[in-house]
Amino acid sequence: MTKRFGSQTAVDQINLRFVAGQASGIIGPNGSGKSTLFNMLTGHLPPSVGKIEFGELDITALPPHERVGLGMARTFQLVSVFDSMTVWENLVLSTGRFADRGSRHRQFFFGPARSKTILEDCLGALERVGLQDKAGARTSELSYGDKRMLEIGIALSLKPKLLLLDEPLAGLSDHEIGDVVDLLHEMKQNCTLVIIEHKISKIMGLIERLSVLNDGVLICEGEPESVLSDPEVRECYWGKQVSNAEG
Ligand SMILES: Nc1ncnc2c1ncn2[C@@H]1O[C@H](COP(=O)(O)OP(=O)(O)O)[C@@H](O)[C@H]1O
Ligand SMILES: [Mg+2]
Repeated sequence: MTKRFGSQTAVDQINLRFVAGQASGIIGPNGSGKSTLFNMLTGHLPPSVGKIEFGELDITALPPHERVGLGMARTFQLVSVFDSMTVWENLVLSTGRFADRGSRHRQFFFGPARSKTILEDCLGALERVGLQDKAGARTSELSYGDKRMLEIGIALSLKPKLLLLDEPLAGLSDHEIGDVVDLLHEMKQNCTLVIIEHKISKIMGLIERLSVLNDGVLICEGEPESVLSDPEVRECYWGKQVSNAEG
């Protein structure tokens, strides 16, 4: 895939494959095209050139909610939840919105049963992210870590086959990072994960594959330990971004 913004090429002929059941990491300096890549995978941005396949299916032309219907969910680099609503309202609104759209005619025949399933999925997700006691709290009153957990909970309530996480550990305390990493390990049991993350050491025990982007180009890909010891990766990543990256 390639993505151009005017004269700038943010993603330059990247060809990537994520294996079902595995967890993959993506690293690269700020501005290297990581979030743009996610935005194309989820349908938030159309590629300038290229195509996206999900399983056997060409999904390049599908809008985001239809990709969610196929089993793709994401979290955003900056936590994306509604501050004015309660935790529970955030969950039910998001889950219901996607579930309804994904199966409108099923909704017509199985409406009440479907709604019951949505509520059960929301409750299950709330417990998995440990926010069951805060269901009635206004989201604006949550810590940043809890908001991140809520966002992951919303993604989980959609029961994704593929979950894309854009810097899930950014801005969290060490304790909160531990909680999210534990949750990622648990999610990995039944979900394919792709994780953009600067704090690479925190996810080394989780990922089977690691890809490195630099200036929109995929410069290295493979088994995480060997990718990190690649001279070009060390040069561009650790060299360029000592303040942001860590080892
Ligand atoms: N919607 C957009 N319009 C114009 N330029 C953009 C847009 N989104 C990203 N870019 C540019 O594309 C490049 C890659 O950005 P991004 O994918 O956010 O990088 P990363 O997530 O690796 O930090 C940056 O130079 C950024 O300014
Ligand atoms: Mg980004």
